[in-house]
Amino acid sequence: MKVVQNVPPRVAGACYISGSADGAVGRIYSVPNPRATHETSKTPLLLNPILAEQGAYPLLRLDERRQELQKKGTELFDFGTGDPREPTDGKIRHALIDGVPEVSRYPSTPGKQGLREAFCGWMERRHGVTLDPESEVLPATGSKEAIFHAPLAFLHHSHERRGVAYGTPGYPVYERGTLLSGGEALPVELKGENGFLLQPEAIDPERTRILWINYPHNPTGAAATYEYLESVVEFCHKHEILLFSDECYNDIYSGEPPPSILEITTQRTLAFCSLSKRSGMTGYRSAMMAGDEELIAALRKLRPSIGVATQSFVQDAASAAWGDEAHVEKRRCVFGEKRDLFTEFFEEAGLEYLPTDASFYLWVAIPDGDDEAYALRLMEEGIIVAPGRAFGAGGEGYIRIALVPGLEDCKLAIQRWAGLEAWT
Ligand SMILES: Cc1ncc(COP(=O)(O)O)c(C=O)c1O
Repeated sequence: MKVVQNVPPRVAGACYISGSADGAVGRIYSVPNPRATHETSKTPLLLNPILAEQGAYPLLRLDERRQELQKKGTELFDFGTGDPREPTDGKIRHALIDGVPEVSRYPSTPGKQGLREAFCGWMERRHGVTLDPESEVLPATGSKEAIFHAPLAFLHHSHERRGVAYGTPGYPVYERGTLLSGGEALPVELKGENGFLLQPEAIDPERTRILWINYPHNPTGAAATYEYLESVVEFCHKHEILLFSDECYNDIYSGEPPPSILEITTQRTLAFCSLSKRSGMTGYRSAMMAGDEELIAALRKLRPSIGVATQSFVQDAASAAWGDEAHVEKRRCVFGEKRDLFTEFFEEAGLEYLPTDASFYLWVAIPDGDDEAYALRLMEEGIIVAPGRAFGAGGEGYIRIALVPGLEDCKLAIQRWAGLEAWT
């Protein structure tokens, strides 16, 4: 590279580097190019209508108030977002660091064999399910993108039956992935009287191609029994519906370990398993899709076009994580302690909540039913929670508490909440 020393730039559009010729370069600067004009009037940008219709953030009032409180320096306890603060285990962090290669290469869609084997080892130990690491599993860069992209492999706007059913309230990505892949969104309202379990009878089998379930459930924390999962499998097999089970919270529990859908079947079924919550790796972005060989083959064909292959060093960290249970056991204990603190408080305060020992969410019914007003009132005390309406229809009248701040912060927040007599 030619380094120009202290010479004023002359050629329009060219880039110059100031500094010395021995490589100790300084600022990069460029000469404005008179031909690159900056338009002042623009024609309206044509958006994908699905994106355009997504609309503005519905909880603007809460967001604005939070910013004001932050500016004022109010101490905030954030139970709003499901991103826990516990440190990632040292073995996982070191595996990542040791995995950074000297020469960087593109990662491949199927990823490293060692990662797929480590995941299959976990699946065998945890769920008693034997999978072929070559043909029945595929890594993803977090389960969010996997969930979003999966319908692209199976749906097309020309298909007559292209409905995707999913529970509401729920994780919003099932709907977005459906619509942006040309599918028809078929939300199914989850009801308290059914323990927030999606009832297969509420699904129209004539229209449905794919069914998403998610237990332990975000946002309610509801967990499914083996028998419930069997009934869903039976329905899907009978009506030739692809069954996708989002098992993001399967390893966060205090009582009986939640079952995987793969314990019942792999036929026309996929489980989406994530390291984010299990191993405190939200920022690493690592998950695994597992199940039916043909479905995995279709995703393997699709995914190189998207460019979501996981970085090799993240794969090394993920192998360490799937191979270890000790760090997960510690996390389970921490979430269990926080869950107990809050449920004890709810009992004393007479607040109605969904009893659960899985996931790190608590779903609380609001005394007068206005979840947004309640969330705003708690925010004045520095307690941030998510109003149920943020998770779609059926969420109104509840708030979700994500047990993510540390134990001491949970205690402080409860003290403040308990002081709000009129609000319990
Ligand atoms: C139900 C559910 N599924 C999937 C995800 C995505 O997890 P990740 O992309 O971190 O694996 C989340 C994240 O909060 C979730 O709540």
